[in-house]
Amino acid sequence: MKVVGIVGSKRKQGNTAILVREALKAAEKGGAATVLVHLGDLDIQGCRGCEKCAETHKCVIEDDMQGIYPLLLEGAAVILGSPTHFYGVSADMQAFLERCYCLEVFSRDDRSCWVGLMEALGGAYAAVVVVYEQNDETFMGSTADIMTRSLADLGYRVVHSVKAGGLWAAGEADRDRDSLLEARAAGEKLVRMMRLREEVEAYLAGTRSGQP
Ligand SMILES: Cc1cc2nc3c(=O)[nH]c(=O)nc-3n(C[C@H](O)[C@H](O)[C@H](O)COP(=O)(O)O)c2cc1C
Repeated sequence: MKVVGIVGSKRKQGNTAILVREALKAAEKGGAATVLVHLGDLDIQGCRGCEKCAETHKCVIEDDMQGIYPLLLEGAAVILGSPTHFYGVSADMQAFLERCYCLEVFSRDDRSCWVGLMEALGGAYAAVVVVYEQNDETFMGSTADIMTRSLADLGYRVVHSVKAGGLWAAGEADRDRDSLLEARAAGEKLVRMMRLREEVEAYLAGTRSGQP
């Protein structure tokens, strides 16, 4: 059981990082191994639209994203965290999502049909964390939607969304009890989902071998 937390803020002690770390802590408590990725530490370029991945399902850009693909393909659960930057995700999170394009396989005859590689591998679980300054949720814009819909396209089921408004200065999330509780709930839920799935898989394996 592995959970990968991906922080899309450059502020390593910022609010997104605090809440993603809190979710990972809860997942660890539940028995999961965890990995924390700060996109700001890495060199991840945006997609060039070269479409070479249409045949290979691999990205031609040799940067730090190449180190993240194996984590995704091994079926780890993911927590994507981004601050709202002008009603959407941060530039780092946008680049990360664009680079997941190579993990989608489109039908040659009909581009409205696609299968995510994670979907084909059996699906995985995800949570999203959004941090924004205003108290009115409309100022979060499409931040949660961008991450949730992209994850779904890739084959993730998003089982929890943390929407933490009213947070501006780096570190404020440390004093926001409700947001910390929500983040913890995200980590706990991911672990619960993965455990349940293990149980179901074991049950099905027994049924198939004639020993339910
Ligand atoms: C470039 C930029 C754009 C922002 N745009 C918005 C916005 O559209 N809506 C909002 O509520 N907050 C906005 N904010 C505020 C951040 O979302 C907020 O400060 C958040 O707590 C930052 O999270 P972090 O500490 O993880 O970086 C913006 C901040 C920056 C730097």
